[in-house]
Amino acid sequence: MPSWRHHVFVCTNRRPPGHPKGSCADRGCLDVSNALAAAIEVDDALLETVKLQTTNCLGPCRQGPTLVVYPEGTWYAGVTVADVAEIVREHLHGGRPVARLILRDA
Ligand code: FES
Repeated sequence: MPSWRHHVFVCTNRRPPGHPKGSCADRGCLDVSNALAAAIEVDDALLETVKLQTTNCLGPCRQGPTLVVYPEGTWYAGVTVADVAEIVREHLHGGRPVARLILRDA
């Protein structure tokens, strides 16, 4: 059984077109989730220590794509594929949350 150091939950919720809340799927969360999965898959250290999980709505839909990293409970908002390398390098490897992406008010 792997000893997870981080659990990463990525919202991949999709709502019907025209829904007033929108959804993370409308904003590219699947690309973000896939980029995270790809980064973890090729990194032996992360493969052993990071559990990536897609999830339904996490709450702050209008600020999506959202994800949350435990055990810190760090919430990220507006994450794009271009941000994934920085989250991997700084947070998952370095233990330093990426301040510019942290969800400020849900
Ligand atoms: S749809 Fe992603 S947080 Fe609600």
